Amino acid sequence: MKIGILGLGTVGGGVVNVLSKNHQEISRRCGSDISIEIAAVKDLKQKRICSTDGFKLTENSNDVVNHPDVEVVLELIGGTSIAKDLTEKALKNKKHVITANKALIAKHGNELLKLAKDNSVSILFEASVAGGIPILKSLGQGLTANKIDLVAGIINGTGNFIMTEMKEKGRDFDDVLKEAQALGYAEADPTFDIEGIDAAHKLAILASIAFGVELNFEAVSTEGISQVDPEDISIADELGYIIKHLGVAKKIDGRIDTRVHPTLIPKKRLLANVNGVMNAVLIKGNAVGPTLYYGPGAGDEATASAVIADLVDLVKGTHSNDEFCWKQLEKANYIEKDNVESIFYLRILASDKPGVLADITSILAKHNISVESVVQKQIDADNNAHIAIITNKILTKEMNKAINEIQAHDYITGTVKIIPVETLD
Ligand code: NDP
Ligand code: HSE
Repeated sequence: MKIGILGLGTVGGGVVNVLSKNHQEISRRCGSDISIEIAAVKDLKQKRICSTDGFKLTENSNDVVNHPDVEVVLELIGGTSIAKDLTEKALKNKKHVITANKALIAKHGNELLKLAKDNSVSILFEASVAGGIPILKSLGQGLTANKIDLVAGIINGTGNFIMTEMKEKGRDFDDVLKEAQALGYAEADPTFDIEGIDAAHKLAILASIAFGVELNFEAVSTEGISQVDPEDISIADELGYIIKHLGVAKKIDGRIDTRVHPTLIPKKRLLANVNGVMNAVLIKGNAVGPTLYYGPGAGDEATASAVIADLVDLVKGTHSNDEFCWKQLEKANYIEKDNVESIFYLRILASDKPGVLADITSILAKHNISVESVVQKQIDADNNAHIAIITNKILTKEMNKAINEIQAHDYITGTVKIIPVETLD
């Protein structure tokens, strides 16, 4: 099997290195040899993490997708412009495509899958979700007997690395982000990691495979980690929770809810203890029950492991986009954000005077919201206090109405903070 590679950065370089260091194992498992014919990069003078001996290196990507001997193209450039163009060209040239590009799949996967099918080739993208964890194969193959009703995961390595370093070592956000970039974890535009866009791309892919529906990135409601306040991390800790940036996809009464946001998780849950660049995905199937998948969410060789798994599947002929039931994808019915039911954490900054807590709880009660737990902390000499509350499960629109009412009172001295809670039980 002769392959062509587009991009020799973190992931492309990792693929070359793993193919070289595990050559014997990989050939044995495939039953034949994989050889790199050609690779394209943007700048030939760039320093590489891999050797470029043994294959042609070019700055002209068309030489890869048009190469007569190349049977599989690995798209490891990223983004949705040049990468989309090259992927389409490769598929039209009847070459299989393997990509790690979640943005490309989440936004254009429906049409690319159709293009692949029309040209009797495959487009595979195991590495696009959760780095080295074989999560798409687990969902599409290992759990194929199940109806899935929940997928919840920490699916951005950079974000989890930043939040862990800030919590455990009190490090500064920008400083940790720079380290994540130096380690090759972050996207070319790191706001994709920080603002939850990368996690939303991945969640759209997971939801599509889990529920057998078309890819719909626009349906994912998305909030990043930039607004997570150390105060909330510390109060959540007192209440028995850890804040994680979570992607959640649920199927409730035939309707789908997909969202990415900072989330309070009970400390005792395994997901609450996933730290650094590690990712983990919880999947609940109606036959198997809860299953959990853990591993590195980013990095050169970890991601290469998933890219090469797709390559081996192609060589062995055990691949097929049908494994993901792409033929029978349905259009999904999504739950509007206002109608999502959740438990909430509220942090209210208020004057610490008699009757305030009672007033707040009576507003909540008026909206049928009960208080599961509460902590109050005086924070300054001016008698301001944080009142932190965990509610019962309630519709988002009811929660918002109650918050607007609370916010209007003159004893409130700051904006009410609201974070969803997932018990994951
Ligand atoms: P890098 O920025 O490290 O590498 C991108 C590569 O693409 C570089 O080698 C660059 O060339 C090359 N390139 C850019 N433009 C062109 C072009 N026009 N023609 C040919 N080559 C070009 O990115 P990553 O390796 O980190 O990411 C690649 C993909 O993998 C992305 O979709 C990313 O989201 C995904 N991914 C990344 C993970 C990670 O841990 N980094 C994990 C999972 C997925 P040059 O080197 O000359 O600049
Ligand atoms: N930037 C991504 C992350 C790379 O940090 O998770 C892996 O998809």
